Amino acid sequence: MATNPTQIELIQPDDWHLHIRDGEVMKDVLADTARQFARAIIMPNLKPPVTTVDLANAYRARIEGQLKLLGVDTFTPLMTLYLTDNTSADEVRKAKAEGIAGFKLYPAGATTNSDAGVSDLKHCHAALEAMQAVGLPLLVHGEVTSSEIDIFDREAVFIDQVLEPLRKNFPELKLVFEHITTLQAVHYVRDAATAGKNTIGATITPQHLLMNRNAIFAGGIRPHNYCLPVLKREEHRVALLEAATSGNPRFFLGTDSAPHAKGAKEAACGCAGCYSAFNALGLYAEAFESVGKLDKLEGFASFFGPDFYSLPRNTKKVTLVKRAQNIPNELPLGDATIVPLRAGETIAWSLF
Ligand code: DOR
Ligand code: ZN
Repeated sequence: MATNPTQIELIQPDDWHLHIRDGEVMKDVLADTARQFARAIIMPNLKPPVTTVDLANAYRARIEGQLKLLGVDTFTPLMTLYLTDNTSADEVRKAKAEGIAGFKLYPAGATTNSDAGVSDLKHCHAALEAMQAVGLPLLVHGEVTSSEIDIFDREAVFIDQVLEPLRKNFPELKLVFEHITTLQAVHYVRDAATAGKNTIGATITPQHLLMNRNAIFAGGIRPHNYCLPVLKREEHRVALLEAATSGNPRFFLGTDSAPHAKGAKEAACGCAGCYSAFNALGLYAEAFESVGKLDKLEGFASFFGPDFYSLPRNTKKVTLVKRAQNIPNELPLGDATIVPLRAGETIAWSLF
């Protein structure tokens, strides 16, 4: 690859962590993702959450209906189920049989729509055993929820208190540590022993590669840069960028694009979530270019995710072009609007 390329061709990427909500909101956000990605892991934290195969199949049908209306036939949603204290081993086996991609662990109270999440993993032994047996991945929101633990430490504490015991009890469980934000998580995933098996991976969002926690407070409170797990110090951003651009297949793309209406973000108690879907690939390209590692983008964006999930890699190629794209101040979102990440600014790379 040239030292300063102005375009890069890569196999079409997938998004291994995405929120598209439902109904009118879904209609507006799905087009942004489908313009760039071939597949996406669809998060199940709807209201009420997607806890059963039947609910997931119905949700998939609504997504497919919407894709049809958009005239898109090149995008495949990969469905997940929301793990609860009551998820049965039978539901896990049914999920495997019906092509569900994994189960999502939200510790109860950790984030948006997580009230029905797991109160204690000891309630989930039968389900976790079944997941391990059939090879269904557990996708983990890795933060403890205790209000006594400093919000900036919740991921690191989760590793010691929850993740390490979980992996000891279920050594062959396939696990994705989602949207990692710390040096500790990078080291944990990089160094985890897996007895030769491909059992641990991690997704990384564009905002955690591009910003540190100063971005939440730059000149005033910046609600559109607030997500969970919250942005951390610069040393963590640097560690994440090193991991993403290292070529280590344990680290792959997952935007965690999480739409909330403008009014729900710009509020006395604003919701967590950054809407990065508008030009997510441009954001990742910018991050990789900042350390001269554009040549590592294809592995991170297009190869390591499907390899982890034991799915075929995409075959179609797409071209990212270095062409400044203006990001609108607001986009339509049902009968409201949404403020995309980097609103009113430009992103140097774009697919379109
Ligand atoms: O910032 C976030 N927003 N983090 C999450 O874990 C959930 C997400 C959402 O659903 O809005
Ligand atoms: Zn998420």
